[in-house]
Amino acid sequence: MQKVRKAVIPAAGLGTRMLPISRCVPKEMFPIVDRPAVSYLVNEAIESGMTEVLIITGRDKDAMEDYFDYSPEYDAALSAKGRAEEVELIHGEISRGNIFFTRQKEKKGLGHALTCARSFVGDEPFAVLYGDDIVFSETPVCKQLADSYEKHGRPVVGLKHVTKEQLRKFCSMKAELIPGSENEYTVTDMIEKPAPGKEFTDLAILGRVLLTPEIFDILEHTAPGAGGEIQLTDAMAEYARMYGMTGLVFEGKRFDLGSKLGFLEANLYAGVRHPEVGEAFAEMIKNFAKGL
Ligand code: UTP
Repeated sequence: MQKVRKAVIPAAGLGTRMLPISRCVPKEMFPIVDRPAVSYLVNEAIESGMTEVLIITGRDKDAMEDYFDYSPEYDAALSAKGRAEEVELIHGEISRGNIFFTRQKEKKGLGHALTCARSFVGDEPFAVLYGDDIVFSETPVCKQLADSYEKHGRPVVGLKHVTKEQLRKFCSMKAELIPGSENEYTVTDMIEKPAPGKEFTDLAILGRVLLTPEIFDILEHTAPGAGGEIQLTDAMAEYARMYGMTGLVFEGKRFDLGSKLGFLEANLYAGVRHPEVGEAFAEMIKNFAKGL
């Protein structure tokens, strides 16, 4: 089985749930304590063995590219203050892996954004990390998906069990547990944002999939779906109906940085675990909660 070396991060969306700030700060650059969401995603890909990473950006999203570049002004200022070792640390962190950028010129949906990755992907399997979905886990989620891909030899969708209300916003799987497994399913269909009664199961895709290049041929003829956008899930549904996919209920805590509550919760979760400020922050929250 081919090793998974490539990852794609679609990060060109408008982020209308996070207006007004998303007009000038890409949601993929929202901070979790002191690092932007996109740096967590790149680290996850690299720690999963995917050292070639393509970030799909768009107009007014240059901040993402800047983040992964050196910043001579800051470097000089830190060095002058005797903090040169911090410069080394930052340079090391932003220089991991090979990071590429391309622009989605029209915001026509996640499926359309992915078509911009076709020549980068070539004929290899690749992971997709949705740009506003952050997962904290023991084993990086992309690694969990890659292990499943290597075991079963077919594309994998990252799943979680969700409530009926949450299902309306996600994509419901038609899925059956693989005999002998506790968390892997065979997926034979899926439906995006199902109306009540139309859902298959309570299993929904949350932020990570691992695909093969056949998806690009399907995306070429995928018509606009929910919200008038070209939906990646419509293309994956067609693939699942034809060939079947694996559904993996992954280990990890997932946050949607593209929603206000998700953004706040992610910062609470990571804040209390932060090596520098975690303890003080936890104390602060306890005191704050007393007054609620
Ligand atoms: P979302 O559906 O969460 O993105 O897409 P959105 O359209 O920006 O969000 P709202 O609903 O308006 O708040 C999941 C990921 O796909 C990317 C987004 O940047 C996000 O990381 N995306 C979405 C694109 O790259 N291009 C698109 O046309 C749409």
